[in-house]
Amino acid sequence: MKTTVNPLRSLCTALFAVTMIFATMPVMAQDKAALMKKGETVYKSYCQTCHQANGQGLSTVYPPLAASDYIKSKPKKEIISSVVNGLNGEITVNGKKFNGVMVALPKNYTDEDAAAAITYVLNSWGNPGGVVSVAEVKAARKKK
Ligand code: HEC
Repeated sequence: MKTTVNPLRSLCTALFAVTMIFATMPVMAQDKAALMKKGETVYKSYCQTCHQANGQGLSTVYPPLAASDYIKSKPKKEIISSVVNGLNGEITVNGKKFNGVMVALPKNYTDEDAAAAITYVLNSWGNPGGVVSVAEVKAARKKK
């Protein structure tokens, strides 16, 4: 028996697929742009106090976030957890030792704020890039 291919239906399927691809691409780019903008605001209002305007850190007290080999070498999950739950104990960043305390993210900052701020850091000053979702922040908050 001959299988019949409906040319009109194939064409519609192809058109639909192409439309979906082009429709979602700009949305993703917009999402990241919005995250970066929000992240910059959160960074400037909170993180910058310690890590400084260009993420360069401050003497031996606050480690740099700019081109941080610590950020590069740790799983994203761990970075998110450090920011939302806090971090202390000796760490080495770009060859310098730090032994301070970063307190947990204050409660007035939402999961959206945290996702945006970390996305901003990951995509600034020579860091490796990537996007942090609200779901990833929620998951990190649970593991205390
Ligand atoms: C009150 C000061 C303070 C604030 C505010 C602060 N941090 Fe930190 N942060 C620290 C200290 C101190 C350490 C190192 C902790 C240690 O020695 O174990 C650290 C470590 C880090 C690290 C890992 C080490 C590195 O340099 O790569 C990351 C990533 C980080 N902070 C991101 C952030 C982000 C993002 C924010 C804002 C949401 C933030 N920090 C706000 C003080 C602060």
